This record gives sequence, C-alpha cells and structure tokens, in this order.
Amino acid sequence: MQMNPISKLALVVLILLCSVIVSFGELDFDHCERIVKKWVDASSSSEEQHNNKDKRSLQDLLFFLHVPRTGGRTYYNCFLRKLYDNAEECPRSYDKLRFNPRKEKCKLLATHDDYSLMEMLPRDKTSVMTIVRDPVARVLSTYEFSVEVAARFLVHPNLTSAARMASRIRKKNVISTLDIWPWKYLVPWMREDLFARRDARKVKGMVIIEDDNPYDMEEMLMPLHTYLDTPTAHDIIHNGATFQIAGLTNNSHLPEAHEVRHCVQKYKSLGELVLQVAKTRLDSMLYVGLTEEHRESASLFANVVGSQVLSQVVASNLTAKNKNTKSEERDTVSESGSDKSDIQNGTSEVASDKIEAKSGNMTVKTLMEIYEGCSTHLRKSQGTRRVNSLKRISPANFTTETRTRVPREVIQQIKTLNNLDVELYKYAKEIFVKEHELVSKKIIVSTSKRSIVDLQKVFGEMDDEKLWTVALMLLLFFLFFLFVHARRKRTSKVKI
Ligand SMILES: *[C@@H]1O[C@H](CO)[C@@H](O)[C@H](O)[C@H]1NC(C)=O
Ligand SMILES: *[C@@H]1O[C@H](CO)[C@@H](O)[C@H](O)[C@H]1NC(C)=O
Ligand SMILES: *[C@@H]1O[C@H](CO)[C@@H](O)[C@H](O)[C@H]1NC(C)=O
Ligand SMILES: *[C@@H]1O[C@H](CO)[C@@H](O)[C@H](O)[C@H]1NC(C)=O
Ligand SMILES: *[C@@H]1O[C@H](CO)[C@@H](O)[C@H](O)[C@H]1NC(C)=O
Ligand SMILES: *[C@@H]1O[C@H](CO)[C@@H](O)[C@H](O)[C@H]1NC(C)=O
Repeated sequence: MQMNPISKLALVVLILLCSVIVSFGELDFDHCERIVKKWVDASSSSEEQHNNKDKRSLQDLLFFLHVPRTGGRTYYNCFLRKLYDNAEECPRSYDKLRFNPRKEKCKLLATHDDYSLMEMLPRDKTSVMTIVRDPVARVLSTYEFSVEVAARFLVHPNLTSAARMASRIRKKNVISTLDIWPWKYLVPWMREDLFARRDARKVKGMVIIEDDNPYDMEEMLMPLHTYLDTPTAHDIIHNGATFQIAGLTNNSHLPEAHEVRHCVQKYKSLGELVLQVAKTRLDSMLYVGLTEEHRESASLFANVVGSQVLSQVVASNLTAKNKNTKSEERDTVSESGSDKSDIQNGTSEVASDKIEAKSGNMTVKTLMEIYEGCSTHLRKSQGTRRVNSLKRISPANFTTETRTRVPREVIQQIKTLNNLDVELYKYAKEIFVKEHELVSKKIIVSTSKRSIVDLQKVFGEMDDEKLWTVALMLLLFFLFFLFVHARRKRTSKVKI
C-alpha cells in the first residue's frame, strides 16, 4: 500500500501524540500517587508526634468537626451551648476563621471547617469530636436541605431581588447559612436553578405536574439524579465525611489539599490511603457519634464529653468570673437569612440553662434532661420551617416516607460515588460499639463504687473498735426490742 508523504506525516504525528497522551496518563498517575503519599506521610507524622496523650480526656479546646447534615446543630444548640459560656466559644465559629486560635483563650470551636484547621490549633491541647451518618442518608439530606433553604427565596419576584435581600440581611451578629461552607455554594446554586425553572413554567403557561416523586420533578426542581452528577456535587458532597475528616475538602486550609483531592477523585485506588488517614483520626477523637443511633450517641456524649466539661467547670471555678459576661452578645447561626422573623426568633433563644452549668450543680443527668427538651423543641421548629419552605415548591415535598421512592439505581449511584464514606461509616460504627460498651461498664462501676464510698463515709471516721461497739449496741438494742415485744404479746395473751 502506497501512502503519500502527507498521510505518512499525519500517521507519525498521530502515533507520537498517542504515546504522549499515554505517558502523560502514566505520569499523571505516578504524580498523583506521589502527591497523595506525601500528604499521607506528612499527616501521619504530625499525628504520631502528638499521640501520647490520653484521647479520652478532654483538653483545653474542644473542636467540634461538624460534618453537614449529621444532626450536629442539635449537639451545638442543646449540648455545647448549654455547657460553654458565650465568652468561651471561639469567635465566629462556623464562619471563616477570623482569629488566631493559638492566642484566643477560647474553649469551644464548632465548625464545618475540615480537619486541616488542626494546623492552626494547639494540637496538644485540643480534643476533637464529630458525628458520622450513613452516607446515603447524608447525601439525600444534603439535597433536601439545599432545596429547602433555596425555596425560601421564592417569595421574591425574581433572582435579583432575592439575592439583594439575602445580602442585606447579613447583619453583624448573624451568621447566615449563606456564609457557611458548603451552603454558601449549594444554596445560591440551587436558588438560581429554582428561579430558572419557575421562569420556564411561567413562559410555558399552565404546567400540570403528574409525577408525585419529589426527587424527580423536573418542572419544579433539579432532579436528584441530576444533582448527584454535577461538578458541584463532586466538588463538595461525595465522600464529604471522609474528605472533611481527612482535611481535604474543597474548603481546606491546606494548600496542597486540592491537588490531593483531585488525584483521589481521579484515581479511585488512591482513595484507600485517604480512608486510612480518616480512620486513624476517628480513632484518636474524644468522641464519635452516629446520627442513626441518636439516643445512645447523646448519652455517650453526656457521659464522655459532658461530664468532663462539667467537672472542668467546678475545678476551674469560673462561677464568679463569668456571671458578668453572661449577657454578652453572641453570634447566632441562622439557617437561612431569607426572612427577618427567622433571624429574630433565632437570636432571642434564651440561654438560661447555662447559668445552671456555671453554678456548678448541673449533672450528667440534668444535662440529658435539658438536651432532650431542647432537641424536641428544635426538631419541631425545624419541621415547621421545612414545611413552610417546601410549600413554595408544592407538590414537591420531602418526608421520611418520600425517601422510599428514591429508585434503587439512584441509591446505588450514591453508594458508588461515596465509596469512601461507606467504609468510613462502617468503621465509625465499630468505634461506637466499643466506646459505648466501655462507657456503660464504667457507669456501672462508678455507681457501685459510689455506694461503697458512701458507706465508707458513714463509717469512715470510726476505727474498728468503735465499729464493734456500735454493732454490739445494735445487737443489744435488738434483743431488748425482742424482749419487750415478747412480753407485750404475753400480756395480751393473759388478758384474753
Ligand atoms: C425584580 O423585582 C424587583 C422588585 O419587584 C423589580 O423592581 C425589578 O425590576 C425586577 N427585576 C427584573 C430584572 O425583573
Ligand atoms: C469549591 O466548590 C465550589 C462549587 O463547585 C467551587 O465554586 C469553588 O471554586 C471550589 N473551591 C475550590 C477551592 O476548589
Ligand atoms: C469558688 O471560689 C470561691 C472563692 O474564690 C469559693 O468561695 C467558692 O466556694 C468556690 N466555688 C466552687 C463551686 O468551687
Ligand atoms: C417567630 O416568633 C414569633 C413570635 O415571637 C412567631 O409568631 C413566629 O411564627 C416565629 N417564626 C418562626 C419561623 O418560628
Ligand atoms: C443550683 O444551685 C443553686 C444555688 O447554689 C440553687 O439555687 C439551685 O436551685 C440549684 N439548681 C439545681 C437544679 O439543683
Ligand atoms: C409536606 O409533608 C408534611 C409532612 O407530612 C406535611 O405536614 C405538609 O403539609 C406537606 N406539605 C405540603 C405542601 O403538602
């Protein structure tokens, strides 16, 4: 076969190009593997340096690594804010860090920031806690919450006026959901999409929506399966728990985090390395809760973390000092920022239980009671808000029942996209079972110990001789009692 010079040249160029692409691909993998391994080495060596402390004892600073949609808000409002004073909370937790954590003498940092924040914290003096949730439930909840918050803006006639309103509402003491990662990306994106669909419906005239599956209602909102496969979801949502605990989110403070994450997303086999780091970190945490086991998790929290904060309060005797700072202004986390009444209701939340914590007579038991009342109240008000927001995209509605309508393939899609989180969740469950057993044993031991201690207190001051005297006297008294009793019986018999 004869080829003309031009096609020969073209062939050569093509072959060259192919080999370059192939070797680039290999290079890219090698490069990625190197990058990821370097990161693993760096993170495990800094971990080892500090691993000699007892992970179960609460350090000066408690860092609540709040993975979005795990129920962490309830912990924040109903546990942490009851245990810590306003003045003890690091400024603008949940917002971008605007302080030097090494300088500030704060004791509580609750945030959606990832583990890379540890680089800025005094490691030796920091305890970390987190809550992990089944990845399918977490992803569905993320979708639903993005829609819920975005739908609140549909009161506005158009996107311009909605966005203007949102920026006006950002007042100095209110941290809106829209300021917080990941919602600052997810909500405006979903909001734009909701408005676009509403505009399209208006153009079309009357649209009859027959499908009653809220996860696939294209006329009203972005369908779930579409949402899952967007660049934003890949950037932020999938394997979100693993990346957050590894410190590799899209919001990481670590400059190399983004390259590491991209490599892991590109080459699935590298994910295992990241997963190992995340597991090790979970192991070294003061507390790991599970969203699904919310009762046991709350009780574990109260016994492991709560009890230690309470004993710190007594030990450091902050009572006198802090009585004056109680009324200080505190940044409030608002969920939406879309209408004023929400914010006002959020701000006026009374913190009277805190006085009890600081007076030093709150116990683990009263803490649990406070938590239960508070979480019921919070759940109710969140439920009401959800119903009110979702009204605006009716007939779409999300309830526990509607989740069963998510097709099996979509559930599988979520599991595949969140393969690392699936593994991490399994691991968190193992840790939870172990910790739960350990603490239940300890509670039993400590209560039985206490009763022994109490008895010792009663008899503590007596030496053995005195104890014998007491026993002898008791015996004599008993005999005397028997004697009197017997006599009485006899006399009564005589009477008859
Ligand atoms: C959006 O709504 C506001 C308030 O009703 C109105 O003043 C403005 O002209 C609208 N903008 C557009 C682009 O339609
Ligand atoms: C994080 O993700 C959002 C949404 O996809 C994107 O707009 C933003 O640029 C990302 N940030 C980084 C640092 O990659
Ligand atoms: C705290 O310290 C003050 C004296 O500074 C003392 O009178 C008070 O009893 C202490 N309270 C507790 C709970 O230790
Ligand atoms: C806010 O509180 C007021 C009363 O103080 C109440 O009427 C209103 O329904 C509340 N709004 C929300 C969203 O809870
Ligand atoms: C806590 O202690 C204060 C005074 O020290 C007392 O007035 C209050 O009733 C106590 N609260 C509880 C729940 O025991
Ligand atoms: C959505 O579901 C909730 C819970 O079942 C219900 O209370 C609410 O009325 C529903 N909203 C609409 C608009 O149908």
